[in-house]
Amino acid sequence: MAAEAAPVRMRVAAGPTTRPLLLGAGLAGLGAAVAAELGTGRCIVTCPPPVARHHLGAALDSLRAAGHAPTALVLPDGETSKTPATWLRLLHDLATLEADRATPLIALGGGVTGDLTGFAAACWQRGVPVVQVPTTLLAMVDASVGGKTAVDLPLAGGLHGRNMVGAFHHPRLVYVATGVLATLPPVELRCGMAEIIKHAAIGDAALFDTLEAAGPELLAPPFPGLAGVLARNVAFKSSVVAQDERDHGARAALNFGHTVGHAVESAAGGRLRHGLCVAIGMVAEARYGVAQGWTPAPVADRLVALLSRWGLPTAAPALDAGALRAAIIADKKRERGKLRAVALERVGRSVVVSIEVPRVYEMLHFLLSSAE
Ligand code: GLY
Repeated sequence: MAAEAAPVRMRVAAGPTTRPLLLGAGLAGLGAAVAAELGTGRCIVTCPPPVARHHLGAALDSLRAAGHAPTALVLPDGETSKTPATWLRLLHDLATLEADRATPLIALGGGVTGDLTGFAAACWQRGVPVVQVPTTLLAMVDASVGGKTAVDLPLAGGLHGRNMVGAFHHPRLVYVATGVLATLPPVELRCGMAEIIKHAAIGDAALFDTLEAAGPELLAPPFPGLAGVLARNVAFKSSVVAQDERDHGARAALNFGHTVGHAVESAAGGRLRHGLCVAIGMVAEARYGVAQGWTPAPVADRLVALLSRWGLPTAAPALDAGALRAAIIADKKRERGKLRAVALERVGRSVVVSIEVPRVYEMLHFLLSSAE
């Protein structure tokens, strides 16, 4: 078999510094990349069962070949397992394994694995290094960059305190291997595309143009052209994190589609994947922007057309209005009676605006229903 080409090396914002992000085709270079950043020795690889089946072997082989002594920990799968209880179990596992301050955690998985492992790394012995090896497109384009780690806090009344407890803990290294996407169902790839479209809409008009022109092969193995799109996407996200690491201002633009999207996700009770809810949320929030005079109607129309082009929903299934209202107000990004909304001024340009909390309900009026 031909040797893999060396990954492309970028630097991404990580608090006061930058850290490497490697963008390659496969996992063969992981061990050497971790060694270059953190030296060799013990390390702990966390992953969910499907990733263990498909990719853990390659990751462990690469780590061992580079002189590391990895131990694998298989974590439960799915957003419902992103809880304080799972996080605490992981800490107990670290104690059992006598992980010390020089033992990096390597999160091999999607956003749930990355968030749980990152939050455990932030807290274990007051902080140990974490390496993010995202295996979903969604995690590659969003969660693996920017240092947000968290667990969800189940709330009274069945509400879902999404990412309510967490910490900023930047990865020492992000290792992206596009080849791992080949084992994902197409709907998972579309979910990642929703976040790429979000980044393009709020901040990168040229990327938006690229996505309008690209054909379906972009999301089909061997993913020709995807590395270029990922590099642009990651560079944009990194630029936002560099401006506002702690999410007090500009970073709120990354929340575009998420205020309504999280409400839809919560009201749908787990029936709709996050990326699909974000697509629906972006449409509602863009239409709300049109009604406020923030967004020209053709800009919202272009967004709807691009989402449809990539097979993403632009309207929600019938959902309980009370559940939607309760969920939208449970959004954690509330400060002194205000919420931050994202105004799309044109394709590739947005600003964050502060709105009174009760006005957030108005966004739900723009949530169009699809005939389910
Ligand atoms: N996913 C949004 C952020 O990183 O701020």
